[in-house]
Amino acid sequence: MHKTLSPPLTSEFEKDVHKGLTDFPKHLSSKYFYDKKGDRLFQDIMAMPEYYLTNCEYDILETYQHEICQLFSKGPNTFNLIELGAGDGKKTKILLRHLSENKIDFKYLPIDISQNALDQLNVSIQKELPQVTTETLQGTYFEVLESIAKLNGTRKVILFLGSNIGNLLHHQAIDFLNRIQELMTDDDLLFMGFDQKKDPQTILDAYNDAQGITAAFNKNLLSRINSELDADFNIEDFLHWEVYDPETGTAKSYLVSKREQSVRINKIDLNVHFKQWETIHTEISQKYDDQIVARLAKKAHLKIVTEFSDTDNRYKNYVFKKSST
Ligand code: AVJ
Repeated sequence: MHKTLSPPLTSEFEKDVHKGLTDFPKHLSSKYFYDKKGDRLFQDIMAMPEYYLTNCEYDILETYQHEICQLFSKGPNTFNLIELGAGDGKKTKILLRHLSENKIDFKYLPIDISQNALDQLNVSIQKELPQVTTETLQGTYFEVLESIAKLNGTRKVILFLGSNIGNLLHHQAIDFLNRIQELMTDDDLLFMGFDQKKDPQTILDAYNDAQGITAAFNKNLLSRINSELDADFNIEDFLHWEVYDPETGTAKSYLVSKREQSVRINKIDLNVHFKQWETIHTEISQKYDDQIVARLAKKAHLKIVTEFSDTDNRYKNYVFKKSST
């Protein structure tokens, strides 16, 4: 039998797109939302009224900055404030300002996948908070978790804000938390945001806004495949669809093919066929309650030290320590 040679599947992105669009049902990972345009669209999402998560967490940090910073600075000597997925650092600056105004000795280590985001963060911190010693680290969470291990010797306070954990299925979240836990020592803290279960309509609105920004964010994945992998997705032929299951607390995003169509992805030599109304699952945004968080913590060998929440419990920040059991 004669077989034509396919170009080698090189990048992670190419491999994942190939796998996701040849699987049934089809899927693509939300980690690929964040190219330059996706970063900008996510900034727009954070600024829109329906996306309550950002404001809730901002309010929690603003309201409890004193208590939070006291927790962080209690313990031996100086510490490294390590932030996973720092982004624009808007919320973190509340804490950075409070710590530096109180002459607390610490170093800020923001980690992000995007060097561009880190450069901008560095510039803005130097301008707004020149007293804060900052060292940026570029990489994926797991790459960077390795470099965190090398920082042992100085106490660590690890920040993971924005309910970014919500993109992981529970078993992945446990795995992730456990890997962080393994890199922690007894004096270290982990400070994380978990979006809470609430009126299902509020959640649906946050992920299906009236202006269509979230739809554009979701569809940007297809634009990205078009430009980076030389494909011919017709973006208008797909619609953004959001579902929320109040029982499991899982919000799921889809792209739905409005018609039967075929798409060519040249760079990976792939033709993809879509039946009418066929789906591509693109993201989960998990919502939590105290019971779920307690279960995740227990399975990851962490213990909850304390928690902070906004006035109507829409969002919570939990503080974890390594558990001795
Ligand atoms: C950045 C993962 C926290 O799931 O709420 C926003 C991303 N997706 N709107 C989330 C997102 C659609 C966001 N996280």
